[in-house]
Amino acid sequence: MDKILIEGGRPLQGEIKISGAKNGALPIIAATLLCPGTHILYNVPELRDIRTILQLLGTLGATWERIDTNTLKINSDQITEFEASYELVKTMRASVLVLGPLLARLGRARVSLPGGCAIGARPIDFHMQGLQKLGAQLELEQGYVDAKVCGRLRGNTVYFDIPSVTGTENILMAAVLAEGTTIIKNSAKEPEIANLIDMLTGMGAKIEGRDTDRLTIHGVKELKPAEIAIIPDRIETGTFLIAVGAAGGDVTLTNCNPAHLPSLFEKLRSSGIYLEAGERSIRVIRSGPLKNVDIKTMPYPGFPTDLQAQIMALMTLTEGLSVIHENIFENRFMHVAELRRMGADIMVEGGKAIVKGQGRLDGAQVMATDLRASASLVIAGLAARGITEISRVYHLDRGYDDLVGKLGAVGAKIWRETGN
Ligand code: EPZ
Repeated sequence: MDKILIEGGRPLQGEIKISGAKNGALPIIAATLLCPGTHILYNVPELRDIRTILQLLGTLGATWERIDTNTLKINSDQITEFEASYELVKTMRASVLVLGPLLARLGRARVSLPGGCAIGARPIDFHMQGLQKLGAQLELEQGYVDAKVCGRLRGNTVYFDIPSVTGTENILMAAVLAEGTTIIKNSAKEPEIANLIDMLTGMGAKIEGRDTDRLTIHGVKELKPAEIAIIPDRIETGTFLIAVGAAGGDVTLTNCNPAHLPSLFEKLRSSGIYLEAGERSIRVIRSGPLKNVDIKTMPYPGFPTDLQAQIMALMTLTEGLSVIHENIFENRFMHVAELRRMGADIMVEGGKAIVKGQGRLDGAQVMATDLRASASLVIAGLAARGITEISRVYHLDRGYDDLVGKLGAVGAKIWRETGN
């Protein structure tokens, strides 16, 4: 297995271009199942998870090609299969996003339950309850959700106990072809959902309430293929902002959307990091000491859980105490043990981590456990004294497009060794 090595202590200087959002592209690629024709997606990142969902679409009958590095053409004329196999779904939970579109298009779907992952049980009960409200019959057998509907799905009111990003996306995609009107209450409001709504609207769907927690969908009889640009990846953007905070330096991020990170901006500014937002760029400078801040992860626009591991690495470099509450997932502190190996002083009590900043970290051999935990270790390595060696970096490849190349281009001493 490959590993990444970093010789820390070098400030970063220069410019980094942000890629399209992984969590924007995944639901939009699933949405192409909703109608025959050729769809064009721009600003699609080169990631393992994107390759996985395209492989899944291929097994369902879709064909696709990359017109250029970041432009994808998908044809969904021949969607004849309706099963998403365990082999594929177990590698990427977001495969569950084909459930809604397949039911809407074919009236049939058989999708493996995703199983848990490093950060939690990750159930899909909200997805299933919502689809049942729209008239689908669902059965659980041999680890698969077997769903069918006679005729079209029927509009209804779907209420989410807690906002669910992919839950909202699945119900949205099922409802656009349902008979009648669907109201989604307590829907998630992440920018990736607005990106999906823009794609569905471009396909002819009738959706009201974009960017709010109440969505109204008036079902239509058919949709047409569409084109759309994937929004910039706000988590990749946040990861690099935090990386400069940790390593020090002066970097400008381009092709990004500062408006998608309101909570992170507040926290980084409070910790002494200078941020200057342009229309589609952010200049980030850190030269002085870092101050400790407290974090509570919340649904958008609160602090993103997907940046919790990264900001924890930053807080280990302060000289104060930071309390970090992880309120979204029940087991998202896998990076703590690894950061401790680098000299961090972190105590975990349930969903709370108390970071006692030591002002520095030391390079060590550490292991990536999940996508964002691995980003946290890269950030720690950039700031640590000496060499940090990160194993199991296949986790990183799921969600970061050329992280090593982008950091190397702004002065980091970072390289990848291919292992067996
Ligand atoms: C999406 O996951 C993202 N993935 C995650 O990003 C992100 O961390 C998460 O939203 C929270 O923002 C994609 O968009 C592909 P949820 P999702 O449904 O939709 C519970 C990354 O690093 N829940 O919003 O799976 C759930 O356990 C990934 O890119 C149920 O109980 O998350 C969690 O506690 C990691 N039942 C909470 O809701 C359900 O049916 C929010 O989860 C669904 C969710």
